[in-house]
Amino acid sequence: MNTRLIRKTLTSSLVAMAWSTAGCSNPPASTPPPATPVTVPTAATEAFRNSADEVPAGWNGPVFKLSHNYPTTKPACGPEQAPWLKRNVSFTSKTPKWSEWSGYVQDIVDYVQKGQDPNLPDDIGWRTAIETAPGRTETRWFHIPWMAYQKHGGREFVHGLTNEVTADLNNIARRSNGMVPGAPGSAMFETWSVGMYNDCGAWAIGQAVPASGEPQVETVDGRSLVKGLPFPEGTVVMKLLNTTADGNDAPFLKGSTTWRANTHLMLEKNKTYDPCLRTPRTVHLIQIDLAVVDSRSPTRWVYSTVVYYYDEAKKDAPIFERLHPLGVQWGSDPDSFPAVAVKNPLVQSINAPLPHAPKSVFEHYGCNKRLAGPVDNPDSSCMTCHAGAFTALPSVVDNQGKNIPAIFVPAATCAQGPTPANKAYFSNYAYPSHYPDPAFKDAIPLDTSLQLAVAFAQYANFKIKNTVPQSCPGT
Ligand code: HEC
Repeated sequence: MNTRLIRKTLTSSLVAMAWSTAGCSNPPASTPPPATPVTVPTAATEAFRNSADEVPAGWNGPVFKLSHNYPTTKPACGPEQAPWLKRNVSFTSKTPKWSEWSGYVQDIVDYVQKGQDPNLPDDIGWRTAIETAPGRTETRWFHIPWMAYQKHGGREFVHGLTNEVTADLNNIARRSNGMVPGAPGSAMFETWSVGMYNDCGAWAIGQAVPASGEPQVETVDGRSLVKGLPFPEGTVVMKLLNTTADGNDAPFLKGSTTWRANTHLMLEKNKTYDPCLRTPRTVHLIQIDLAVVDSRSPTRWVYSTVVYYYDEAKKDAPIFERLHPLGVQWGSDPDSFPAVAVKNPLVQSINAPLPHAPKSVFEHYGCNKRLAGPVDNPDSSCMTCHAGAFTALPSVVDNQGKNIPAIFVPAATCAQGPTPANKAYFSNYAYPSHYPDPAFKDAIPLDTSLQLAVAFAQYANFKIKNTVPQSCPGT
């Protein structure tokens, strides 16, 4: 069992940002009260900060700027803008095939890649505004607020990346030597990502977190729901996942992007990262996650990911041509193990063929081959983890397993079979459903957006700052 991956998975993202005390070299016995700042931070200033860190003097590289001019009226979000919605795919077939879905995923890939430099050079990064017609530039991509609040793990200043799972090499690449994942001596690699919503998704985000920076919850039929949700059809979400591993560590990463990012310092003595110290280094694109709203889906969503791998035959081609879809998923397959006792064939998750893939490519998919990428939790899956996106009321700190469902499951869960927790975790439900375990009936649904969950968690952290244990000195 890979305890290191699990531990980091458990403490990554939401949990770490809100609560973690894990891993600091010298946590203070108690957090001293902060000195009175010259400008008092408000929800608005904290929510829409560009980055959590400072641009160092003399820096000559790119500097990230948060795209948060969310549309105030509903943009055009129909099949003309989102052509995959016109694709005649089946969400109920008992024998789903990649060949029926490849065009659907390609439409999304084309939409996402439009207007970008196909080599994603460091100095250009990901463009938030693209040329949509000759001479006409529009903002296509918007970021989530509140992800630059936590000083040591929040957005970094170069490309706006945030810190996710720390994986060991055995989780990233298949190893011919059969090393046990997490074995002593296996190096650890950080993942640094940036997610973006298109204008249709951003229209919802601007209502959920308006210019005041304060998340908005309203009462509908006696329940608390987030304003602006659900995301409208036509919403596209993408996330670029980068790893500190390179082509020497995992040969399939050869030739990938070389973005600089203000990541954490690697401590040579035990090859782990100090989560309280930052340092710029080079990171490499490993996967681009995709998610779209499609009302035909039992979860309202379709998830996909394209992965990078070096292909000798395409060594002179742009990086975009070395990205391949890993598969597609629109449900958690509640009729297959571990939601039920039998390993019935998956009917809501398809893994795509990987042309010219090197033998040593990725180590794993998700739970029982449900879709998950090389730097995702192998005991979950895209749809399964994301369906569990819930929050507590603003100003209340999220606590997984207590007031919101636990989504970062321990490895044992996938192997365990139909426990009540597995039945709930691997089931299908769509906004505005409650999480399918009554213990969480007050948890507020976020329509699969785990970045919104981060935003809510960070806002709560901000509101009650002096009562929350901080993970690093000076946070
Ligand atoms: C075990 C949980 C887990 C799994 C599995 C997972 N993700 Fe995520 N994902 C997260 C978390 C947590 C975030 C928010 C934090 C962040 O972006 O830094 C996130 C963010 C995202 C975002 C940005 C928008 C949003 O919803 O927050 C997209 C898009 C996304 N993931 C797609 C995928 C795809 C596609 C897969 C499968 C290939 C996948 N994810 C697998 C946990 C997971």
